[in-house]
Amino acid sequence: MTKISYNDMLKKLESFSQTQLLKYYDELSDAEQTALLSQINDTDFSVVRSSKEEAVRGVISPIPVTELDEIKANRDCFINAGLEEIRAGKVGAVLLAGGMGTRLGSDAPKGVYNIGLTRELYIFECLINNLMDVVRLAGCPIHLFIMTSDKNHEATVAFLKEKNFFGYDENFVHFFMQELAPASDYNGKVYLEEKWKISTSPNGNGGWYSSMAKWGMLDIVKTNGIEWLNVFAVDNVLQRIADPVFIGATKVMGCSVGSKVIKKANPDEKVGVMCLEDGRPSIVEYYELTDEMRSAKTKDGKLAYNFGVILNYLFHVPELNKIMDTQLPLHVVEKKIPCLDENGDKVEPESPNGYKFESLILDMIHLLDGCMVFEVVREKEFAPIKNKTGVDSVESARELLKKNGVEL
Ligand code: UTP
Repeated sequence: MTKISYNDMLKKLESFSQTQLLKYYDELSDAEQTALLSQINDTDFSVVRSSKEEAVRGVISPIPVTELDEIKANRDCFINAGLEEIRAGKVGAVLLAGGMGTRLGSDAPKGVYNIGLTRELYIFECLINNLMDVVRLAGCPIHLFIMTSDKNHEATVAFLKEKNFFGYDENFVHFFMQELAPASDYNGKVYLEEKWKISTSPNGNGGWYSSMAKWGMLDIVKTNGIEWLNVFAVDNVLQRIADPVFIGATKVMGCSVGSKVIKKANPDEKVGVMCLEDGRPSIVEYYELTDEMRSAKTKDGKLAYNFGVILNYLFHVPELNKIMDTQLPLHVVEKKIPCLDENGDKVEPESPNGYKFESLILDMIHLLDGCMVFEVVREKEFAPIKNKTGVDSVESARELLKKNGVEL
């Protein structure tokens, strides 16, 4: 392996105004110097920003939603079409588990959180149980791809191995890792986490498909003839995964992407809302909704922006391949970043002290034509665990699991 040169890395840092990262270089051991130069070499500093300015949005208008009554009326047709795809081996599932889950306040991967009361019941276990319902119904296995990051990969793999994948066939589970991005202070200066290590954070959930490509997962997709990927978040313990009705509806309607949505609990609920932006499917964040949009009505008197996304999307692989190289917008998120202070001492901040840089899966929807916006029953499919207590918490998810007959 060729040695990475100090001068080359200095030049790279100069071009991004990040030379502070070499402040302690002379104090480091040989191994530490090599580690730091190698990290500088691998890091894309072009993502770093010094403000939270987001891209200007296009013209937002309501999107047609396939609501519960319409789904009920067509259920048999949809479920048969979906099961046909699953039984032909054309459906895979992608679990996004690369996030840090900082709001939950545990250093361990979110999926290893035990939400049981009288027995052990892990978040990963809930998800695998839900997917196994479909495996049983269809009578065939489904490939499950799990995205981790460098921060939680080993712990995730070790945990699932120790638990025997909660009964899921190990041959159908595939791990891949997303990338990390540098994290900076509010002036866009990247922090050091150690004198020999740059502060980093997972780069958001938007890079999942290109990370699958980098890790050879698309060979598995291709070899097995997988045409649909159902991508879902780690923290919704009630969600239906590889849901044949959803898959069938998206296929029958000829859409290249599907998004599960729930009716908002109230107009102010903090969920992203499905809409059209310049005539293409898109998602507006709750804080982007104006008062006017919150109360806007459709011709038939219904609230126009009333369906929130739950991070459960179905993508048609041929269309994904077409947009694979398209750059997604970058989101700047305020965050607590462990770093060194000016004396070189380690700090674990109590409140946000800078930015992390992420691309988001929701921006992929906008690149695709024809989105099936598919309503699901909130109480049956939406129990996200973001916080320890209060809204979207371990407590609220437990209540919802109980209501759905899951023993805790
Ligand atoms: P969240 O937006 O809830 O982020 O992720 P998070 O990092 O898990 O949690 P907080 O904000 O620090 O508390 C939504 C989904 O996207 C995944 C998460 O694992 C979760 O399934 N995700 C998020 C990634 O896979 N990678 C990322 O870089 C960020």
